[in-house]
Amino acid sequence: MQSSEIRQRFLDFFQGQGHLLVPSSSLIPAGDPTLLLTTAGMVQFKPYFTGEMEPPRRRLTSVQKCFRVTDVESVGDSSHLTLFEMLGNFSIGDYFKHEAIDFAWEFITGNLKLPKERLWTTVFLDDDEALELWARKGVPRERIRRLGEKDNFWGPAGDEGPCGPCSEIHYDNGGPCRLGKPDDQCGPDCSCGRFLEIWNLVFMQFYQDRARKRTPLPRPNIDTGMGLERITRVMQGAASVYDTDIFQPIIARVCELAHKRYGQDGGTDIAIRVVAEHARSAAFLIADGVVPGNAGRGYVLRRLIRRAILFGNKLGLAYDAANADSFLAAVAEVVIQHLGGVYPELAQGRTFIVRVLQQEEAQFARTIETGLPLLEEKLIPLHKEVGRLAMGKQAESPFRIPSTGGSIRIPSSETVSVAGILDALTAPLLEIQTSAEAVEFSKRISGLEAFMLYDTYGFPVEVTAEVAREHGLSVDMEGFNKEMEAQRERARAASGFGGDFERLRVYQELGAGHTAFLGYDTTHATSEVVAIIVNGERANAAGQGQEAEVVLRETPFYAEGGGQAGDGGRLESPRGLFQVEDTQSPVAGLIVHRGKVASGVIAAGDQVAATTPRATTRPPTCCTRRCAPSWAATCASRGRW
Ligand code: GLY
Repeated sequence: MQSSEIRQRFLDFFQGQGHLLVPSSSLIPAGDPTLLLTTAGMVQFKPYFTGEMEPPRRRLTSVQKCFRVTDVESVGDSSHLTLFEMLGNFSIGDYFKHEAIDFAWEFITGNLKLPKERLWTTVFLDDDEALELWARKGVPRERIRRLGEKDNFWGPAGDEGPCGPCSEIHYDNGGPCRLGKPDDQCGPDCSCGRFLEIWNLVFMQFYQDRARKRTPLPRPNIDTGMGLERITRVMQGAASVYDTDIFQPIIARVCELAHKRYGQDGGTDIAIRVVAEHARSAAFLIADGVVPGNAGRGYVLRRLIRRAILFGNKLGLAYDAANADSFLAAVAEVVIQHLGGVYPELAQGRTFIVRVLQQEEAQFARTIETGLPLLEEKLIPLHKEVGRLAMGKQAESPFRIPSTGGSIRIPSSETVSVAGILDALTAPLLEIQTSAEAVEFSKRISGLEAFMLYDTYGFPVEVTAEVAREHGLSVDMEGFNKEMEAQRERARAASGFGGDFERLRVYQELGAGHTAFLGYDTTHATSEVVAIIVNGERANAAGQGQEAEVVLRETPFYAEGGGQAGDGGRLESPRGLFQVEDTQSPVAGLIVHRGKVASGVIAAGDQVAATTPRATTRPPTCCTRRCAPSWAATCASRGRW
């Protein structure tokens, strides 16, 4: 059965049971500051569960696109994904456990016809009622397990919200236990991979606040979630979610681009899966207006794109600068083609998705080009070499490594060449005193080294960690975070003392004479976004809710000066609306529009309709400066009018 049929059957089944079909909401939760991204079908219904809003109907059903940041590192195994489609049925104070269990059982055994003998269920520790309901459905009691909070209490999604005990349905791929446990000890909570959780029924009864205090909700509710990719895997008897019709076309494209075959080699397969999965997730995030950045959602996206590129590099895929050819964009095209019908935002945002991926891949390729050889060819071998030399020495024996201009000498006259590595990177070596420390050094990249790579070359710490891990080394993340904090402190001190140098540097780089001013002739113009600045740094784009500065090729907006305030107004593109609150000219000839993205995204390269309600009067020709009319009197007094 194709995944599209499973999706449709689910919705038809629950609509047949009186549920109202609600479309998937955006991955950016609307009006929910407690949540970075939509993690479950219930997210858009939170106000219904709490009683803040009346639902359009008490029975609802949806297929919700969800994103779980916590699963990024697990992507590539047989079942974890960052982005997945969640099939859900919801009761807002209508039916409860009894019907929820009835519906779920009927759908998977009656409609999808999964073999009953393969199904196990779990209930919350003392939930005898749910246990009895499953037993009445014919689930043998030894296949109903009682589990604690970790497995059988769900929510809240975000820092606070509705939550409750839950009951799960698991599919048994068949014994024996892959970890060798006896049959009676292997079950749905075993990590051996024999069992796959397919459906979670939440008996939503509490509101948990930020202090983790739980108070009963006005009425008990039902919230369920079944991952489409997982149920498809079961229905198609596939070895993993990647071996289903959902991922196979994407995987085929990755293989075609990389000239690789899927299913031949474990390591290659994981890399292929990561590229396929992350390209899919990135396309969805961008379609919903997330753009790569250094914080929040933007950072989640950037991290995904970078991971995909690194795994792609392992497959021999790289950015082709000569043809501006991004392999991630090529993979994303397949995602758009296959899911653009179900999620029209993918098809509508196609050009933008491709452009963002292209830009990010190009930018990251430049970073990797410098940082990766430094890490892989110099720093990691150095750590390993020091470990090799320390091996066999007494733990307490002296192991001094004085730095001697490009090489590190060890008393036994063995020398490790570090030529070419920045002094700053070798500096931490000076602290190695004993062979025990040398052994420690050989296993771990220090926080200072990771920071130097980041600070000097822009090399992201998670990439350092990823590459180090491949070579059997870890990274001192705590040390790295301390270095980052120290740097922030220095920046704070610097800006307090001498103003915002960094921001000024960005303006100067953008250059004088960048913006043509059209405001004497018009209040409206169509122009191109030539640059975007977010938090004082150049960015490719800004997403909904983000504050930013936008530079246009030409603008009718008057920048504050000559005693006249800067203009406000709107920059509108087909994909977004930027509300201009103020206009400034921080360096001569450069006009920046300051404000916030009111909806969608605004990106470098976009064509925007720039409109300001205020007209600017052209100063008399006798005036040699671009003065504002309000300066007329002053100018006159100086004899310039
Ligand atoms: N909201 C139910 C689940 O995510 O499992």
